[in-house]
Amino acid sequence: MPHSRREFLHRAGSAALLCQTGAWMLPAHADDRREVILHARPGTTRLAPADYPETPIWGYDGQVPGPTIRVRQGERVVRRFVNGLPEPSAVHWHGIRIENSMDGVPELTQPAVQPDAEFLYDFAPPDAGTYWYHSHHRTFEQMARGLYGVLVVEEPEPPEVDREEVLVLDDWRLAEDASIHDSFGSLHDWAHAGRIGNWITVNGEGTWRRETARHERLRLRLVNAANARIFSLVLKQLEGWVVALDGQPLPAPQAAGPLVLAPGQRADLIVDATAGEGEEGLLVFRGREQDFALAAFPIRGRAREARLPAPQPLPPNPVPALGDLSQARRETLRMDGGAMGRMRQAMLGGRMVGVRELAGQGKVWAFNGLAEMPDAPLLTASRGETVRLAMANDSAWPHAMHLHGHHFRAIASDGAAGPLRDTLLLDRDETAEIAFVADNPGDWLLHCHMPGHSISGMKTWFRVA
Ligand code: C2O
Ligand code: CU
Repeated sequence: MPHSRREFLHRAGSAALLCQTGAWMLPAHADDRREVILHARPGTTRLAPADYPETPIWGYDGQVPGPTIRVRQGERVVRRFVNGLPEPSAVHWHGIRIENSMDGVPELTQPAVQPDAEFLYDFAPPDAGTYWYHSHHRTFEQMARGLYGVLVVEEPEPPEVDREEVLVLDDWRLAEDASIHDSFGSLHDWAHAGRIGNWITVNGEGTWRRETARHERLRLRLVNAANARIFSLVLKQLEGWVVALDGQPLPAPQAAGPLVLAPGQRADLIVDATAGEGEEGLLVFRGREQDFALAAFPIRGRAREARLPAPQPLPPNPVPALGDLSQARRETLRMDGGAMGRMRQAMLGGRMVGVRELAGQGKVWAFNGLAEMPDAPLLTASRGETVRLAMANDSAWPHAMHLHGHHFRAIASDGAAGPLRDTLLLDRDETAEIAFVADNPGDWLLHCHMPGHSISGMKTWFRVA
């Protein structure tokens, strides 16, 4: 918590008080059908070390990350979103196979919520797993200011662990006074890797650290909430398994080796603390030149004599199985543009425009030669149809492609289907094909999850009729 409740009462108005009180009184698992306020508002928090000032942020309930919302699978999430920001906003529930009207996308599923206005989000997540929520309006600024939180949907019978930790990774661009650097609309960033920061936090802390007993078993729910940073992660003195990606269980736990978490992606790990007394287990970010310990688990005492046996897979979610791929509807998406790219022109406002003029209008990317959200959907699927989408990243930069309302599988060239995901990293010049069952009616976004890229051209949509 950024500051004490008393301090909070002095600083904040009555709406904020209401919102704080609502969250306070909420016992675990009483979420179903109970309405709680989710108040987007400015706040301050300590991100940087103690010799720096606190950082003004925008956060849900004024905090970063926002409150972790927990429900059991099948229970409803009911949140009255109150916009206490100086500009419109909306909340997107990332990875939830949600009803379209609750998806929180201003151009597509609802009007943006004006300052001081409200919107009632009410939905039942069909799948257990680790999900998250974030602003979907001026995302390149609002998410960078801290508007995100975690949504945990618990399995009816969760795997046995001693403890669970939700670890939200973010990468902030801080100015010298530890304020969030105001270079949100930097076209230079947009044309390159996006808004890469200079200060990495876990749950808002520079070094996240919790005492852990030897042979204690933890479930780690990792979320990458950064605007652009791709985290290459390794575990040290923590041994275990990846049990879910982007919320969806793997059919079998996979030994946790190096793990890449692109913006928007999540991973659930079950790990055992194998370090000895006085040592520490670590979650390490492999930077280009240097490694950084993101989370430390210093060992104190011993939970048991030896490690527990390997965990069982998590129970599967009710995601429909892919239909016959040879009969699937097929579409292609060419991703073009960016610095050092080959794009010379693209369509904008109904005419062909050269890259210079495109840049003048804040567009540096194109999907299928179009540098803006199209009027017509990329594809229209009938409900229940299996769709194959071939994507080609024809640029010099990696992109994290996110599909709304559905999970998909990457299809390898030999036809093998990968794990269910909602966000897929395509490296420079990489191609990938995804397939999904279009079973969720409505209009859905497909975009790069680096918000600087999506605002400057990497955004399209599809329809499930
Ligand atoms: Cu998490 Cu359209 O985004
Ligand atoms: Cu991108």
